[in-house]
Amino acid sequence: MANIVILGAQWGDEGKGKVIDIFTRKVDFVVRYQGGNNAGHTVVIDNDEFILHLIPSGILHKRKICIIGNGVVVDPKALLDEIGMLKKRGIDVDGRLLVSENAHVIFPYHRRLDELKEAKRRKIGTTKKGIGPCYADKVARSGIRVADLLDPVVLKEKLLNNLEEKNAILDKIYGVSGFSFEELYSEYLDYAKEIRKYVCNTTVVLNDAIKKKKRILFEGAQGTLLDVDHGTYPFVTSSNSTAGGASTGTGIGPTKIGKVIGVVKAYTTRVGEGPFPTEFTKDLMERIRQKGKEFGATTGRPRRCGWFDSVIVNHSVMVNGIDEIVVTKLDVLDDLDSIKICTAYKFEGKTYNEFPTNGRVLAGCEPVYEELPGWKEDTTKVISYLKLPGNARNYLRRIQNLLKPRIVLISVGCDRKQTFSKDA
Ligand code: GDP
Ligand code: IMO
Ligand code: MG
Repeated sequence: MANIVILGAQWGDEGKGKVIDIFTRKVDFVVRYQGGNNAGHTVVIDNDEFILHLIPSGILHKRKICIIGNGVVVDPKALLDEIGMLKKRGIDVDGRLLVSENAHVIFPYHRRLDELKEAKRRKIGTTKKGIGPCYADKVARSGIRVADLLDPVVLKEKLLNNLEEKNAILDKIYGVSGFSFEELYSEYLDYAKEIRKYVCNTTVVLNDAIKKKKRILFEGAQGTLLDVDHGTYPFVTSSNSTAGGASTGTGIGPTKIGKVIGVVKAYTTRVGEGPFPTEFTKDLMERIRQKGKEFGATTGRPRRCGWFDSVIVNHSVMVNGIDEIVVTKLDVLDDLDSIKICTAYKFEGKTYNEFPTNGRVLAGCEPVYEELPGWKEDTTKVISYLKLPGNARNYLRRIQNLLKPRIVLISVGCDRKQTFSKDA
């Protein structure tokens, strides 16, 4: 089997955690390549729910090696908390969790700046985990990497430099007090002691693994429309969640990636601000939110919900080169009399079949809908495609026709078992 990228084709929370857990059986390594603990990936095994934020979802499979790549931003406290949570639940990560020495480190000033920017400047609806400010430092070349964290001399110099600037911003722009160097330095030296054993040159590990014909699964976080280049900028996250990120975020050449699988929710959700053309109005919003349990796995915020939008998913198919599609949460639509699919947008009399990059245009777009009959049957116990109600199959067929790549897997519940292939 080729090395695969599994990523979200909408605005995140498509059910990637569940799908990655299923595909983990077929691979040797599972690798996060971007984002940080802004992600919340849920895996349910026999009513036992795990939410992974920073550690790859493959960790629940005992013999798999999990890597946090150079493109990820690492909050060491969040990492240690997650390792602790897994240990408590009987999952030992030692010897099979590796962290890139080139990943950037999140500090409390990143979180503080994230919060303040949200409250006092433009609201994006971030997770307030410090993700954006940490990536900003990376690009500005003032960030602190995991390797720096492990070297007390370098850490001291870089932290002093950073604090000089951050404390001035906190004081002069936001009027709040800054951070003490002594306290932060001592706190982070303690983290360094604890995470040292996980840190290595993961790029070499992965390229060696490829030479040995080991199989790698690249775990996307967030979703394509949250990508900093290809998403609904500025209402996006600060990394490349698209397939290209798997290469830059790990140090694997693009020629070594054989397949891209897009995870698609049977409807659409989004958390935070920004345009959302197919967003439901109040009643339907509440109904689908409750039925789909659409509350953030990281922040608990209610997710905004809407109809399936083939314009945005087609954009995802294009920018990721998606080969195959997995459709999740089909069961959430079980009770509806009829179901809409957005096939195009209208703006000032013009029809758009392609996702408009101009945010003002997107915000003003009216969706063009097709309406299909619902199936009004419980699908959560269905175990094969042919056992799905006819109207559910029609719905999936129409989605596949609009998107083109093959639907390979369908999910009708949060458990591992509530999944079947389209061909079987
Ligand atoms: P991720 O960020 O893409 O991994 O997705 P999240 O874990 O944030 O959100 C997906 C939610 O839907 C989780 O609570 C999953 O347990 C749940 N889920 C996944 N697949 C299905 C499905 O097919 N049906 C239902 N009802 N829930 C699902
Ligand atoms: P998973 O991996 C859904 C959203 C936030 C906000 C924007 C920027 O579970 O699908 P950030 O904290 O990243 O600077 O926030 O991105 N966001 C997500 N939405 N799922 C996620 O991750 C998300 N991670 C970030 O809500 O709109
Ligand atoms: Mg999530």
